[in-house]
Amino acid sequence: MLHGKRILLIIGGGIAAFKSLELIRLIRKSGGSVTPVLTRAAQEFVTPLSASALAAEKVYTSLFDLTDEAEMGHIELSRSADLVVVAPATADLMAKMAGGHADDLASTLLLATDTPVLVAPAMNVRMWLNPANQRNVATLEADGVHRIGPDEGDMACGEYGPGRMSEPADILGAIEARLADGPLTGQHVVVTSGPTHEPIDPVRYIANRSSGAQGTALALALSGLGARVTFVTGPASVPPPPGVSVVRVETANEMLAAVRSALPADAAVFAAAVADWHVEAAKGKIKKDGSGKPPTLKLSENPDILATVSQMKKGRPKLVVGFAAETDDVVANATAKRKRKGCDWIVANDVSPETGIMGGHENAVTVIDAEGAEEWPRASKEQVARRLAQRIADALA
Ligand code: C5P
Repeated sequence: MLHGKRILLIIGGGIAAFKSLELIRLIRKSGGSVTPVLTRAAQEFVTPLSASALAAEKVYTSLFDLTDEAEMGHIELSRSADLVVVAPATADLMAKMAGGHADDLASTLLLATDTPVLVAPAMNVRMWLNPANQRNVATLEADGVHRIGPDEGDMACGEYGPGRMSEPADILGAIEARLADGPLTGQHVVVTSGPTHEPIDPVRYIANRSSGAQGTALALALSGLGARVTFVTGPASVPPPPGVSVVRVETANEMLAAVRSALPADAAVFAAAVADWHVEAAKGKIKKDGSGKPPTLKLSENPDILATVSQMKKGRPKLVVGFAAETDDVVANATAKRKRKGCDWIVANDVSPETGIMGGHENAVTVIDAEGAEEWPRASKEQVARRLAQRIADALA
C-alpha cells in the first residue's frame, strides 16, 4: 500500500498515455497521491483535465507558467515527491534524460530531482531495439534510474515485440516495491565513499584510484532497505545514487567535518579511500625554478575519520563499519585494524592488481567482527552491498 506516499507522474507523448490515467486511479486506490505532469506531446493523447480529475490535483504542463513558479518552483515540485514515475517513457524522453536536457517542464524536473526515478518505457519495437535507444537505456541504468518493462506483445502500430508499456497494475507493483518500508525505515546511516583530493597547490592534487563504486552501491542498498542515508563523497568517478542526501567534499579534513555534522546516526559505514596525508599546499602554482632541484612537499597526517567516530565518547553510532583494502595478509592485517581503530566490523578486501577489484565491478570480501572472520564469495559490488546492507539491518534490529 502507498499510504501517504507522493508520486510525481510524468506522462510522455505515446499511445500508452491512456494507460497512465488508469495508473493514477490505481495509485490513489492504494492510498498514494499523484501530481501529474504532461508533456506537450502527451496532451495530444490525453487531456490535462482527465489527469487532473482522476488525480484530484493540479496538473503541470509548462515550464514557463509563472503562476506555477509562484506556487511551487520546478525544483521543489521535483523533490517533494517520494518517487518520480515516467509513464509512458518515450524514446525521446529517455534520450533527453540520458543527455541531461532541460528544454521543457518534464525534462527539467527529471534533471533537477534528487528523488528516485522509475521509468516505464513504451515505443515501437524497432525504436526500442535501436542502438541509440539501447545506449540511452544503459546510461539511465548506470545513473541508477529504475525501470519496469517494456513488455513484449502486439503493439498499437501492428508490430510484435518488446516495446509495450507494462500494465498499470504491474507499474503499481513496482512503485509499491520501491516505496515499501524496509527493516531500516526510520534509521539514519552515514556512508563515506570515493577518494579524497589533497591539494599541492591551486592546480595540483594527490589522489587515489578509488572509483566510489562500492560505497555508492552500499548507499543504494541501505536506502533500498528504508534507511535515510547521508552520502559523504569525495570526487568519485561513479555518480552518487538517487534518493540519498549527498554531501560532496574534496579533502579528508572536509570529509571529517561533513561526517561530524551528519551525526547523529544509527550506523556509519566508512567506504571512502581517504588519503593518509595532506600537503601543506602552496598558495600559488609551484614553478620550476631552473635549479633542477624538485620542490619538497611537506606532508602532515590526516585525521582518521573511522577511528575518530569509532572512539567517540558521546553520540557514537551503534554500529561503525570500516573497510580495509590490503595487498597481503588480508585477514591478519584487517583484524588488527579493527582493534586499533575501535570499529565494530571491518570489511576487508584484497586489492592486489591481479584481483582487478580496485576500479572493477566485482569484490571479494571478508567481514571481520568480534566473533571472527566470515569469507564471502566473489560477487558484483552490488551483490556485496545488498548482503552487507542486510547484515547491517540485522545488527540494528
Ligand atoms: O588505515 P586504513 O586507511 O587502511 O583504513 C581504512 C578504513 O579507514 C576505511 O574504512 C577508510 O574509510 C577509513 N579511513 C578514514 N580516515 C582516514 C583513513 C582511513 O576514515 N584518514
